[in-house]
Amino acid sequence: MSSDGSRIPRFYRLPLGQRRALIAQRAGLEPADLALLDEGLDLETADHMIENVIGVHGLPFAVAVNFTIDGRDRILPMVIEEPSVVAAASNAARMVRAGGGFTTTVDPPLMTAQVQLVDVADPDAAAARIVAAREAILVEAAAASERLISRGGGPRDVGARVLSRPGDPDGGLVVVHIDVDCCDAMGANLVNSVAEAVAPLLAELAGPPARPGLRILTNLCDRRLVHVRARVPVGELGGADAAAGVASASRFAELDPYRAATHNKGVMNGVDAVLLATGNDWRGVEAGAHAYAARNGRYAPLAVWRLDGDMLAGELTMPMAVGTVGGALRAHPLARLALRLLGAVHASELASAAGAAGLASNLAALRALAGEGIQRGHMTLHARAVALAAGARGDAIDRVAVEIARSGDVSPERARSVLLRLAEVSK
Ligand code: MEV
Repeated sequence: MSSDGSRIPRFYRLPLGQRRALIAQRAGLEPADLALLDEGLDLETADHMIENVIGVHGLPFAVAVNFTIDGRDRILPMVIEEPSVVAAASNAARMVRAGGGFTTTVDPPLMTAQVQLVDVADPDAAAARIVAAREAILVEAAAASERLISRGGGPRDVGARVLSRPGDPDGGLVVVHIDVDCCDAMGANLVNSVAEAVAPLLAELAGPPARPGLRILTNLCDRRLVHVRARVPVGELGGADAAAGVASASRFAELDPYRAATHNKGVMNGVDAVLLATGNDWRGVEAGAHAYAARNGRYAPLAVWRLDGDMLAGELTMPMAVGTVGGALRAHPLARLALRLLGAVHASELASAAGAAGLASNLAALRALAGEGIQRGHMTLHARAVALAAGARGDAIDRVAVEIARSGDVSPERARSVLLRLAEVSK
């Protein structure tokens, strides 16, 4: 994509057909590729994805524009039911663009398998024996991940921690961690297979009467972090007061877990929308994000902002276990289309984009909250949904929405009465 490939002023004002044509052109896709958006997920595929299927549930598929990430323009696919998120992310991306765009670093794609060992007679000695047998454990784990190894990934490290000792209520308990490089996969299945394969050897090393307990990945994948930075010229934000307001809102979240939870919800608005569009396990990323936010014993914001001269500098760090192969991507045609739109071949590119969407959503929320508040913008969008539900179509949607939003009564009754009046006038 060219250097201004994702910058599309007033994109939201275009009719849907023109939006599609423009996005297809900018992303280097045929308009026919986007026809997939009409078809969505077919019932037969859905029936094979999960159990007890009785239908297919739709959500809006949108794109956020204006993003430049690591010097490359990206159009971000976003699937979400909440109004304002896509517009706000696009708007924040435009401001960040003026400061050079988002820059990211992504850790290697290490997921960690956990094997719980129970009834361990001497947990400290068992943990030491397991760490000393690192090479043998890695060989056993490698045998369970041959295809991954052929792609350049595979098991990388072993660690063991004592969680409780004989005489404690839980008895002798050791947890073993095996780090696995999952390449471009999210890796849940790969890592769970490794956990099950090495568990008997680990129990043997722990010594009788130890036996394996749970064998599963941890979603707190703190060796698979994404770091996203953005610098916004203060002028782009609307001046020094607005920038100071964002920095102060960030401090508020750093001081108060109640505020940090909502602050992080704003981050996850952007992250989850990209993950949902690309068929990724957003629940896993959510679990990892919140556990990471609480890693120091106090729930903290995932993204922080500081004033730095005439720039506002933001930084987001969070676990990001995502994949561009495997999982729902195998089955879901729109998830594959979303990845093509984004131009993400590797999991690291998707991690950067999801992180940038999170930081952009956070910036937009803090700027609005520190300024006029979010309700006015929300109400205008909400009014469109109410107008649509009341039966407005075409031009009438905006006319009804503007009038009910201005009146402060965004109710279906009010929308219906405005619609009736417009219909009378046009007779
Ligand atoms: C709403 O979906 C998200 C916000 O509450 C985030 C925030 O408060 O920072 C606006």
